[in-house]
Amino acid sequence: MSVNRRSFLLATPLAAHAATWQDTPKVPTAVIGTGGRGSYLLRGVLEQSNTKVAMLCDNKPDRLDKAATAAARDNPKTTTDWRKVIDDKSIEAVFIATPPHLHAEMAIAAIKAGKHVYCEKPIGIKASEIRQLLAAAKASKKVFVAGQQLRSMTMLQEAVGKIHDGIIGDIVMVKAQRHATADLPHDGSSGDWYFDVNKGGGYLVEQSVHNLDLINWVMNAHPEKACGWGAINFYKNQPPGRTIFDCGSMVFNYPKNVQMSFTQMVFHPRAMPLGNQYVHVFGTKGSVDLMGAPTMFPIGGGPAALLAEKRKESPHAHIEMFYRSIIENKPSPADATVGAAAALTAILGHEAMAKQQIVNWSDFGIAI
Ligand SMILES: NC(=O)c1ccc[n+]([C@@H]2O[C@H](COP(=O)([O-])OP(=O)(O)OC[C@H]3O[C@@H](n4cnc5c(N)ncnc54)[C@H](O)[C@@H]3O)[C@@H](O)[C@H]2O)c1
Repeated sequence: MSVNRRSFLLATPLAAHAATWQDTPKVPTAVIGTGGRGSYLLRGVLEQSNTKVAMLCDNKPDRLDKAATAAARDNPKTTTDWRKVIDDKSIEAVFIATPPHLHAEMAIAAIKAGKHVYCEKPIGIKASEIRQLLAAAKASKKVFVAGQQLRSMTMLQEAVGKIHDGIIGDIVMVKAQRHATADLPHDGSSGDWYFDVNKGGGYLVEQSVHNLDLINWVMNAHPEKACGWGAINFYKNQPPGRTIFDCGSMVFNYPKNVQMSFTQMVFHPRAMPLGNQYVHVFGTKGSVDLMGAPTMFPIGGGPAALLAEKRKESPHAHIEMFYRSIIENKPSPADATVGAAAALTAILGHEAMAKQQIVNWSDFGIAI
């Protein structure tokens, strides 16, 4: 594929874009990390009409073989060394689905090599590496997408848009949780890194980053400070050597003194009410739960109003958006700033719990 040909297609007028999307040369794509999430992303890449799986990378040969079989249609090259993907000039787009502590280094290398990057969430687990990644992405003319796929859900786009337009008035408080009925399987696909806080970042950073991103989105801001407590109370030393909290409670302080309280835990009995996840957004005119069918309940009563119909969303909408950004030059709703803000919000909460003190966003030295 010639870059000039793609540049030519990108320069075609808007009216020609539908044809461009269908007819554009296939984007040679690599996936680094073909475990649980990488295999899912690979299926999504294979479903796109304008991609070719050109290279696969995993340092576990059995996972690499499985992925190569899944992508046999495109006969991809395979490697256990991720730097070979970076050095391969024929690769234009890279998906990074390795454990979180590797994301920033790999993404920065891919950006600097001139590739479009889709980096799974969290885009980093330390503020210092996120600062470097953000700077690299901003300096690049290529697309960067963070794996914060809620941003591609049309129902949420509609509901959040109406909240931004003022349907619930001014947001005055948020109460949210991410509760699960159990840990991830201790011997599962990600069991060799997930329970190590230095590799996954902890439950808040690794999983709740989605919920926190949704809250940043609806708030149109990130928190200024956080306090909280976390503990390992249920799964003590399970699996052996565990360093991630299994529960925690935090308060995040957003601009205009809006408080967001957040709890997370992994032992909520399935049959007990108020399990699972919610994001309750309280406004001066009414309140909404953004994780369910987003219904507004007016202050003082009156009929509830659905802000957006529940609908069947494409499971690969975020991947399609990545390629539309590349091919049609469309802005990504989950760019590096969004990914960085989500990861840093989670790091803020995690550090507050770990240090048992108030942590300030300004300590990160990253203006977003
Ligand atoms: N967006 C989402 O909803 C979502 C869902 C699940 C997972 N994820 C994210 O995807 C990432 C991967 O999670 P997972 O559950 O697939 O984990 P996983 O352990 O199943 O997969 C990670 C893969 O990376 C490979 N790997 C590790 N080090 C490597 C290296 N140096 N070079 C090449 N390959 C290497 C491992 O062998 C493994 O196959 C995590 O960041 C996770 O948070 C995102």
